Amino acid sequence: MSKQDANNNEPPTTGHIWDGIREYDNPLPRWWLWTFYATIVWAIGYTIAYPAWPLISGATPGVLGYSSRADVAADIQRFADANAEVDSKLASVELAEIATDPELLSYAKNGGAAVFRTWCAQCHGAGAAGFVGYPNLIDDDWLWGGSVDEIHATISHGIREDRDDDTHYSEMPKFGEILEGAEIGQLVQYVLALSGQDNDAAAATAGQVLYVDNCESCHAEDGKGDRDQGAPNLTDAIWLYGGDAATLTATITNARFGVMPAWAGRLSESQIRQVATYIHQQGGGE
Ligand code: HEC
Ligand code: HEC
Repeated sequence: MSKQDANNNEPPTTGHIWDGIREYDNPLPRWWLWTFYATIVWAIGYTIAYPAWPLISGATPGVLGYSSRADVAADIQRFADANAEVDSKLASVELAEIATDPELLSYAKNGGAAVFRTWCAQCHGAGAAGFVGYPNLIDDDWLWGGSVDEIHATISHGIREDRDDDTHYSEMPKFGEILEGAEIGQLVQYVLALSGQDNDAAAATAGQVLYVDNCESCHAEDGKGDRDQGAPNLTDAIWLYGGDAATLTATITNARFGVMPAWAGRLSESQIRQVATYIHQQGGGE
């Protein structure tokens, strides 16, 4: 098909012929060309006005001095200023008062949920239900105590955290270095009995004698544990490490040494109180 102008003249061709097809040499439409030039001018102007060209460290700052980092910092500062009053109130009232003041409570619960997602969820799980070795924080079974003051102390100073002098500390001995394998087997049967699971009654009776000598000082005579030492209750179905015979054998032989970081100094007092309140309100708080 040919494309002719009013005078029946065909436009010139570029001279390329490929498979019998010739290419017209039409000028680009004006509007297209001017738009194209405009984008070039725009792009150059933009790179002058805004941070753009990469340098060895950083980039050209741009004459408008815009920085997304400064924007974020200003936003954060704006929120910090807006919350400064409630933050300082939260950090200074009696802990028990937080739950009775609706404004403080709702601020603490929301802030605490955010702190928890950022700093705690990787160990305790997004819903705070825990994993093996990392306690569930929403049940009513507490190793170190479930009042808001006790939770606050645990979070501030951690557990077996050697960088904090006020940390909770206790150490279960490695009974593999103290007792015979057969004795450990009997203790396992006794712990199975304590927690209401199937067990070998004769071995459990022998285990009870060993329990009184070796375990009672921490796990208590009735097996219900001791919060001053973070020694878990062995009579319920809630296990930090596991209640089956194989796990019990491993726990008693090699002991356990769960470590939780201290947060005082890393989080503000207000943030620690927020997350303590959040956990306390989650359901299991005492
Ligand atoms: C590096 C993992 C880790 C992180 C992060 C962590 N924890 Fe823990 N947390 C633990 C371990 C392990 C224990 C249990 C220690 C033990 O065996 O006594 C624990 C125990 C606790 C307890 C005591 C529970 C009880 O039954 O007495 C509380 C409360 C707690 N964590 C809250 C928090 C909060 C709040 C945060 C975030 C600010 C947090 N944890 C971050 C590992 C962690
Ligand atoms: C000095 C105190 C102490 C003594 C003595 C002790 N324990 Fe423990 N035990 C602990 C502590 C503390 C923990 C928790 C460790 C942790 O959180 O990492 C624990 C944890 C356990 C657990 C894990 C419970 C769970 O929920 O998974 C079992 C089982 C256990 N001890 C059994 C025994 C038996 C049996 C004896 C005696 C042979 C004994 N313990 C002696 C302090 C002690």
